[in-house]
Amino acid sequence: MCYNMSLSPSPSLSLSLSLYLPLSLSNSLPLSLSLPLSLSLPLSLSNSLSLSPSLSLSLPLSLSPFSLSPSLSPPFSLSLSLPFSLSPSLSLPPSLSLPPSLSLSLSQLFDHIAKCLSDFLVSQDLKGQTLPLGFTFSFPCEQKEIDKSILIRWTKGFNCSGVEGEDVVKLLKEAIHRRGDFDIGSVAMVNDTVGTMMSCGYRDQSCEIGMIIGTGTNACYMEEMKNVKRVEGEDGRMCINTEWGGFGDDGSLRGIQTEFDLEVDKTSINPGVHTFEKMISGMYLGEIVRLLLLKLTEDKLLFEGQTSETLRTPESFLTKFISEVEEPDSGLENARRILSQLNLKWNEVDAHVVRLVCDTVSSRSARLCAAALAAIANHMRVSRKLDRLKTTVGVDGTVYRKHPNFSEELQETVRLLAPKCDITFLVSEDGSGKGAAMVTAVAQRLALQSRLLEDSQTLSPGDKLRQVSAQLKKDMVRGLGKHTHHKAPVKMLPSFVRATPDGTEKGDFLALDLGGTNFRVLHVRVVEDLQTVGSQLCAIPKEMMLGTGQQLFDHIAKCLSDFLVSQDLKGQTLPLGFTFSFPCEQKEIGSILIRWTKGFNCSGVEGEDMVKLLKEAIHRRGDFDIGSVAMVNDTVGTMMSCGYRDQSCEIGMIIGTGTNACYMEEMKNVERVEGEDGRMCINTEWGGFGDDGSLRGIQTEFDLEVDKTSINPGVHTFEKMISGMYLGEIVRLLLLKLTEDKLLFEGQTSETLRTPESFLTKFISEVEEPDSGLENARRILSQLNLKWNEVDAHVVRLVCDTVSSRSARLCAAALAAIANHMRVSRKLDRLNTTVGVDGTVYQKHPNFSEELQETVRLLAPKCDITFLVSEDSSSPVAAVGGQ
Ligand code: BG6
Ligand code: GLC
Ligand code: GLC
Repeated sequence: MCYNMSLSPSPSLSLSLSLYLPLSLSNSLPLSLSLPLSLSLPLSLSNSLSLSPSLSLSLPLSLSPFSLSPSLSPPFSLSLSLPFSLSPSLSLPPSLSLPPSLSLSLSQLFDHIAKCLSDFLVSQDLKGQTLPLGFTFSFPCEQKEIDKSILIRWTKGFNCSGVEGEDVVKLLKEAIHRRGDFDIGSVAMVNDTVGTMMSCGYRDQSCEIGMIIGTGTNACYMEEMKNVKRVEGEDGRMCINTEWGGFGDDGSLRGIQTEFDLEVDKTSINPGVHTFEKMISGMYLGEIVRLLLLKLTEDKLLFEGQTSETLRTPESFLTKFISEVEEPDSGLENARRILSQLNLKWNEVDAHVVRLVCDTVSSRSARLCAAALAAIANHMRVSRKLDRLKTTVGVDGTVYRKHPNFSEELQETVRLLAPKCDITFLVSEDGSGKGAAMVTAVAQRLALQSRLLEDSQTLSPGDKLRQVSAQLKKDMVRGLGKHTHHKAPVKMLPSFVRATPDGTEKGDFLALDLGGTNFRVLHVRVVEDLQTVGSQLCAIPKEMMLGTGQQLFDHIAKCLSDFLVSQDLKGQTLPLGFTFSFPCEQKEIGSILIRWTKGFNCSGVEGEDMVKLLKEAIHRRGDFDIGSVAMVNDTVGTMMSCGYRDQSCEIGMIIGTGTNACYMEEMKNVERVEGEDGRMCINTEWGGFGDDGSLRGIQTEFDLEVDKTSINPGVHTFEKMISGMYLGEIVRLLLLKLTEDKLLFEGQTSETLRTPESFLTKFISEVEEPDSGLENARRILSQLNLKWNEVDAHVVRLVCDTVSSRSARLCAAALAAIANHMRVSRKLDRLNTTVGVDGTVYQKHPNFSEELQETVRLLAPKCDITFLVSEDSSSPVAAVGGQ
């Protein structure tokens, strides 16, 4: 590499000296300078050395994934009219920059930031407003959420105690609270590289790399999701903050570190940390030059061997001097001035040598950066399987901006090291602030969406849930009351089951299980315990659910007949247990259907005796017969079957296609049945809770819509907010609404999503899976023919979570009402009981049961409730109960 130094007009100056410039890669390479002609520095970082393979992304760094893609944000912030400006307002003005002090404590630092913010708000007349805040925090952070960012370690001279390992957003919010004179809205944290990439992405859509060469150095880029192993999902890309400053911290750069690099590191406040950064960035370049000058002076190659007190003072040679000294026109003059300022006795040659030293140091920095950038670009090209990569790098930082030829040298070197990449460099116009603001806009949007959802959907286990619980308790009493029953929305149906099976029942039984996801026929044998000898699923076509009662019962009888043939039981007359999961009034003989629920609506059945209809259908066939028939609700069947395993099981609960519970009530409370002693199992039919309008205050527009379009409007209100038959539809309506409000899918819905029931309830469980959830979301959204982006997938997950979470909490409130009521009725200080549970929602959803249980603990603090999931279906016990 040749340095054509434009020397001052004194051609007479002709001397030659040879310098040993220890910045070269191989420290032994002597550097011959022959002034005034030209200086040739055979620096081994020269272009011919292919640095890239060795630097090639073996970055031993903690790559902090950052979950937004830049291509998403510009349209977002444009299409959103948030109460928020992209103005400079939200980043700290440079004049308020922080004193990088070692001695600051955690609270001092954040108090200072909060004070700067406060002063700024006053000066801008913004006090009293609650604006969202974009926080460019240019230190390595592990990004947990957009507003949760854990500082991994300080770099660049900061070392405030007590911050590493903490959530920086939380610390900031706490400091603002301590002041108490203003408040901020949602906070989004971004690294400066990410902010820069996003800012530049605003002008150039193909900006996929952000690079900072300033006080520190770092880069981020869009990585293929499949390479980001620490984040689930395979599709699309994610911005990765490389923290390349930490490159070499494992010693991998030892071969190119000079004694000056080692010295800079040793005297830094974080020795051993951010090795690469210390060879490159503005915080250290001046110091490297100073150490070099000292060494050259010591070796009598400068200032006639005479140093100065000032030059011996650490950090006296500022990094900006390098730029000044290297200025093409005024450089030498600047050098002279600076050397005088440093109290050095210099001559003309000294000035030239100093310029050379500066050039060497800055040039090495530019080349190292180029090598690192080339590593990224090459990696992107290969990952994307491209012949050529065309991309834009958004750049910022004082070194890159201010140094007269840094950018040029960097770009030239990158071209050599990444020959198959066409890289455009775009200097950020407004720092990273605009990008941070854009991220904030997205964060704000997310917050807005979740608030929208929360307001309307979630019930915090606070007052509202307690009200729901208290109201249900009242309604239960109404349902039990002789004179209030007929008007009560919660039916509280006596089951006439007074105890769980005692084990004396023996023999073979048949069982039917109708009303859940599946219609089942079973053959059960009781010897020592219950054994299911055979079972068969039978489909019930949708038309049949809405056809005539006769069709339905003929179908049931046919399934039973086929089953008997397959089990070789034809000719036997076995007793039959019928789990019929609809509200029935139990009579001495028979069981009267009060009304259909859960999508069934066969004509001519309501008000009729189910046992009679079944027997008639069997008679019509005439090819087999059955013995005595016992009807139970699925809740009762579940309680009984769990009661086999756990004697203290006194509640049965279903959260599946529908929802309901039964429990052992004191006979004295069961006013509609004679007798005062003992207990009886009551089928609450809590699904009907709210049918008198008592839940109006917590029903959303989506609940109302689901009810309106159901086959039984006004009926089973509570169930429609909770159970599997409806949850998917609630989510679908919510997604439609959010899309309409341009908060999802860029405002574009799909024919599929507009089709009722296209969002299945099982999708909710899939989307909420802890590991594969986001990937499932992406797949499902594609299936629904929606044009989604990464943020959409997250929002959909949030929607599912909100809806399922509300369901779990409402169930918890209802269960707590039962448990509290049981405890009080029994005059107990504490109630210890077990709930037998069944149903696809409870069983299949990844965290439904946990949320339900937690909430019950809060709402029924004096009850110790064990949850037992029914192992087999509710039907075998129904069969035994029939004896
Ligand atoms: C089954 C029971 O396990 O769960 C049925 O055998 C009950 O009786 C059903 O109705 C409830 O769950 P789902 O999700 O199928 O409605
Ligand atoms: C330091 C920080 C990094 C930042 C860079 C540029 O390397 O660790 O987060 O991006 O400086 O400011
Ligand atoms: C519906 C039925 C009820 C049943 C529940 C669970 O709410 O009305 O009888 O227990 O669904 O399947």
